[in-house]
Amino acid sequence: MIIKNIALSNFRCHTGYRLDFERQTTQILGENGWGKTSILEAIYLAVRGKSFKAVDREILRRGAEYYRVELDFLDGEKTVVTYDAAAARKNFLVGDKKWARLPKKNRYPVVLFEPVDLSLITASPARRREYFDRFLAQLSEGYSNSLSRYNRALKQRNEYLKREFLRREDLFPWDILMAKYGVALRTERAGLVAALNDRLTGVYRGIAENRDEVALAYESYTEEVGESEYLRLLNLDFERDRLVGHTNFGVHKDDYTFLFNGAVADGTASRGETRSIILALKFIEAEMLVEGLGRRPLVLLDDVFSELDETRQKALVKNFQENQVILTSVS
Ligand SMILES: Nc1ncnc2c1ncn2[C@@H]1O[C@H](COP(=O)(O)OP(=O)(O)OP(=O)(O)O)[C@@H](O)[C@H]1O
Ligand SMILES: [Mg+2]
Repeated sequence: MIIKNIALSNFRCHTGYRLDFERQTTQILGENGWGKTSILEAIYLAVRGKSFKAVDREILRRGAEYYRVELDFLDGEKTVVTYDAAAARKNFLVGDKKWARLPKKNRYPVVLFEPVDLSLITASPARRREYFDRFLAQLSEGYSNSLSRYNRALKQRNEYLKREFLRREDLFPWDILMAKYGVALRTERAGLVAALNDRLTGVYRGIAENRDEVALAYESYTEEVGESEYLRLLNLDFERDRLVGHTNFGVHKDDYTFLFNGAVADGTASRGETRSIILALKFIEAEMLVEGLGRRPLVLLDDVFSELDETRQKALVKNFQENQVILTSVS
C-alpha cells in the first residue's frame, strides 16, 4: 500500500490543504504550529479509522461545520473521511460504499513514532499500557476486541461502584466479563513480551553496535491466574472498590519494565541508549506487522528524526528503506 496524495478540509488548522507523497520518503517541513502533526494525524485517521490523539470535535477546525480527509492510494483506491459536526457523525467512503467505521480490509498497518515515545521507558505505566495496547491491537483483531470489551465492562463496573445502594451481586455481569477479557488480554500481552524479548537484544545491537542486553518485563497485576481465580480476586476487593469508587484489581493496572543489562533501564540507560532501545522497538514493530499481517506498514515519524544522532538516523533510514516513510521536521 502506497499513499499518493492527501486533501484536507477544516482539519485542525488546515482550512484547505493538499499534498503529494513520494513512494519512499516524504519530508514535511514547517514551523511550530504550522500543522505538521495534524497531517500525520489525518493520514493515520484515514488508514486506521481513528486519530491517535483526539476525538472528532477536537479535530474539527474551530468554527467549522465539517471536516474532510481524502486519501488517494497509488493503486487507484481512495478513502474519504467526513465528519459532520451538527450530526456528530463521521463516515468513511471507500470505493462507492459508506461506513460508520473503517472496514477492516481498508485498514493498513502503521508504525507511528512520536516525540513522546522517546520517553516511553520513563513514562507513566498508563502511557506504556497505551503504547503496547496500540501495538497489539494492530497485530491482533482478537486483542482489539477483548480490549474494548474489557474497557467497557470496567467503565460500567466503576459507574456501579459509585451507586449508593449496591449489592455485590449487582456487579456480577461485569465481573464475569472482566475476568474473561482480563485473562485474554494478559495472555496476549505476555505473548507479545516473549516475542519482543526474542528480538530486542539482537536488533538493539544492530543499531548500537555493542554487546549490551535489552529486555522487557511484563508485570501483570493479576499474575497468571485463570478466569475463576481472577473472579475470586476481583471480588476480594469489593469493599475497597466501593469505598474508592473504582476497580482495584485487573489488567488495567499492568505495566512493562525495560531492562538494560539486567537492571531497570529507567535510571540506568543513558539518553542515547534509551533512544536506541526505542528505535529497536519500532523496528521490531514494523517486522512483526509484516509477518503478522502480510502488509508492509506505513511509517510516520513526527519530529523524531532530528532528535536522533547520525548513527541512529542512518540505522532508521536503512531499516525502513522498503517502507513508505512520511516524516515531519521543524524548519
Ligand atoms: N480544532 C482546531 N481548530 C483550529 N486550529 C487547531 C485545532 N486543533 C489544533 N489547532 C492548531 O493547529 C495548529 C497546528 O498544530 P500541529 O500540532 O499540527 O502543528 P505542528 O506543525 O505539528 O507544530 P509543532 O512543530 O509545534 O509540533 C496549532 O497552532 C494548533 O493550536
Ligand atoms: Mg507537531
